[in-house]
This record gives sequence, structure tokens and C-alpha cells, in this order.
Amino acid sequence: MRVLILGGDGYLGWPTAMHLSAQGHEVAVADNYLRRNLMREEDVESLSPCLNLNERIRLWKEHTGKEIVICIGDLNHWDFIARIFKEFQPEAIIHYAEQPSAPYSMLRREAATLTINNNLGVTANVIFAVREFCPDAHIVKLGTMGEYGTPNIDIEEGWIDIEHKGRKEKFLYPRQAGSLYHTTKIMDTDLLWYYVRMWDLRVTDLMQGPVYGIFTGESEVDASLLTLFSYDELFGTVLNRFIVQAVAGYPLTVYGKGGQTRGYLNIKDTLNCVRLSLENPARNGELRIFNQFTETFSVNELAGKVQSAGKQLGIDVEIKNIENPRKELEEHYYNPQHTGLLDLGLSPNLLTDTALGQMMEFVLRHRANIAQHKIFRGTKWA
Ligand SMILES: NC(=O)c1ccc[n+]([C@@H]2O[C@H](COP(=O)([O-])OP(=O)(O)OC[C@H]3O[C@@H](n4cnc5c(N)ncnc54)[C@H](O)[C@@H]3O)[C@@H](O)[C@H]2O)c1
Repeated sequence: MRVLILGGDGYLGWPTAMHLSAQGHEVAVADNYLRRNLMREEDVESLSPCLNLNERIRLWKEHTGKEIVICIGDLNHWDFIARIFKEFQPEAIIHYAEQPSAPYSMLRREAATLTINNNLGVTANVIFAVREFCPDAHIVKLGTMGEYGTPNIDIEEGWIDIEHKGRKEKFLYPRQAGSLYHTTKIMDTDLLWYYVRMWDLRVTDLMQGPVYGIFTGESEVDASLLTLFSYDELFGTVLNRFIVQAVAGYPLTVYGKGGQTRGYLNIKDTLNCVRLSLENPARNGELRIFNQFTETFSVNELAGKVQSAGKQLGIDVEIKNIENPRKELEEHYYNPQHTGLLDLGLSPNLLTDTALGQMMEFVLRHRANIAQHKIFRGTKWA
């Protein structure tokens, strides 16, 4: 299949490109280095060095003989995205290309408007490009479990049947995001749903939980092919950050009471979920939604797991409940359904002691790169 990966330089995009290329798909990646540029502007960096896309693609070819097509440019610009679609004629598009950080979106007005313009602009361009150049292509879009928020009822897999005054209808499950970034993801879903109804597009929207980890099957080919690994408060996901904090001797930053519960997954399972979605595409005129996570944990549970993993390696890990910079429920009901991807054959990589130990050993090997002052800055959300 010809697969176009938008955001192919990113934390998830690059491992996905290698994975699908290894599976024999024809892969093209597009990126404008927004993530790297924002990280530079905010004075944070990846724990391990990360080659640019051209260098990684060259290395991938050296090791595997496989080509990945590269397109550098801003997908918010119609001429750029139109040219890629026209030339590559994708059969499937994986849309990762967004400003992905909730805390970044809450920094200041400029960061908020960048997030809105970038995320909605790229999604709209993808929709128009599919309509114009490849109307049968399958769009696999990365949404987030954060679209649902933390309602006091079970979270369904995208849709809910509602009975009202004796009549029934199926609606998108109610969404109530906790950050501006998550709100742009809700708006993306609404845009996609609108054009699925208007133009019979085929779309899979993956409501993904926070991802952890760095290793994927293909990264074993060469350590220089590893994806980026953020550990700062803006761009790092919570478990990755906790592991770096543990190794750095920095007390784990549990926000408030630490009862915030979310659905997590290993980066290997992001690749598996995306691949399964590609292999089993949505139908024309279908917005298919999967809740993409494998296990739920509270922040306290994650901190406890990192503390015990540290003990195994002789590291004394302190946990500190600090004032919550975010405005969110610190104790709440959380029961999201997630059977769709399991039904397609997902076999989860769970957060075992071994998985945690491997991540901790990776961080230990790069501990000299940890800049303590970049770990936490307390960006207030309200
Ligand atoms: N990482 C997670 O835990 C997680 C969880 C849920 C959802 N998601 C979603 O998955 C997707 C990928 O996340 P990630 O962690 O890999 O983020 P990332 O920032 O590492 O990857 C996104 C990539 O898209 C590129 N990009 C953004 N805007 C662009 C534009 N206008 N033109 C060209 N390229 C552009 C960025 O430069 C970056 O390389 C995002 O949409 C994110 O919201 C991520």
C-alpha cells in the first residue's frame, strides 16, 4: 500500500515510517520540523540525540535497502500538501502532524493560536486533498482520549446511543476537553465527521492515551534510528518524564493528589494499532473510532511503579505531591471501553517490570544529557 505519514519526523511518526516500510509498504513522510523548532524555542531537547529525517532515511536505506520518500514543508500550505498528494497518490494517510502538547497550548496566547491554526489547518487541508486527489484513500487520524475528559459515566468507543423523550439516535460520545490542545482534537473530529457525511470519506479516528517508551522492533537495527525522547514538562509524556526524573534524582512530580487516571500504551502498540487500522480500513462514509490504549493507571500508580523499578536498579526514588499547575479532577471515575483494536487482533505490550527496567536502563545510558532545570517549570493552566 502507498502510505503517506504526515508528521513523519515526530515521536510516533518516525517509528511508524520504519515499521510500515519494514512491512513492505511504500512509505512517504512529510514534516516541517515544527516539533523540533518549538522545542528549540522553549529551550528543551530530546534526551538522546535525534538525526534529521534525511539522515535517518539514508541510514534506514543503508540497513534495509528500503526507500522512504521525504517531503519537507508545512502541511498548512495548500500548494505543498497538494503537490505531495498529486505525486504520491496515497492509498492511506496517517495524520500525526499537529502541535501535540497540551501544556504548550496553555503557555500563552501565541502558543494557543499556533495550536488552533496548525491543527485545524492541517486537518482541513488533508480533507480537501483527499477529496481532490484520492477520494478513496483511508485517513487514519490521531485523536486523543483527552477529547472525552473524565466524565462520571463509562466512556464508550466514540459513539453513544441516546434515548430522549421516547426516540433514539446515535451520536458522537460527548466530549469535554481539559486543555486547548485537546479542544483542537475535538474540533478535528467534528471536521472529519462533517466531511464523512458530506463526501463519503473513510476515516479512522484513534483516541489515543499517553504513549510511553522508545524502543520498537525496527529501532534495534541501529541506535541512531531511535525516535526522540522528551523529558520536559511541555513535550514529555508522564511516564517518560518520571523515568528521567527518577534517574536524575529529581523527586517525581505528582500533580496534586495524583488520582488522575488515564489509559496508557507502549509506543510499540501505537505502531500495531495504526497498522491494524490500515489493514482493516473504515468503509466509505464511515467515521470509525477506536479508543487506543491498553491499560489504565492513576498518576500515583505510575509513580509507584517507577519507584519500585528504581529500587531494582539500586536507585532511591522520591515521590513528591506538588501543587497542581493544571485545572483538572484529581480523583474521579474512569472506565473507558477499548475493545475495537483488540477485536482487530491487537496483542498488548503491557507495562511490565521488564519494560520499565529497559526504559530505565536506556535513560541511565543517557543520564549525562539530562538538564535538571529543564524538567519542570510549572506552566499554569488557569
Ligand atoms: N505522544 C502521545 O502520547 C500522544 C497521545 C495521544 C495523541 N497523540 C497525537 O499523535 C500525533 C503524534 O504525536 P507525537 O507525540 O508523535 O507528536 P510529535 O510532535 O512528535 O509529531 C508530530 C509531527 O508533526 C509535525 N508537524 C506538525 N505540524 C506540521 C505541519 N503544519 N506541517 C508539517 N509537519 C507538521 C511535527 O514537526 C512533528 O514532527 C499528534 O497528533 C498527537 O496529538 C500523541
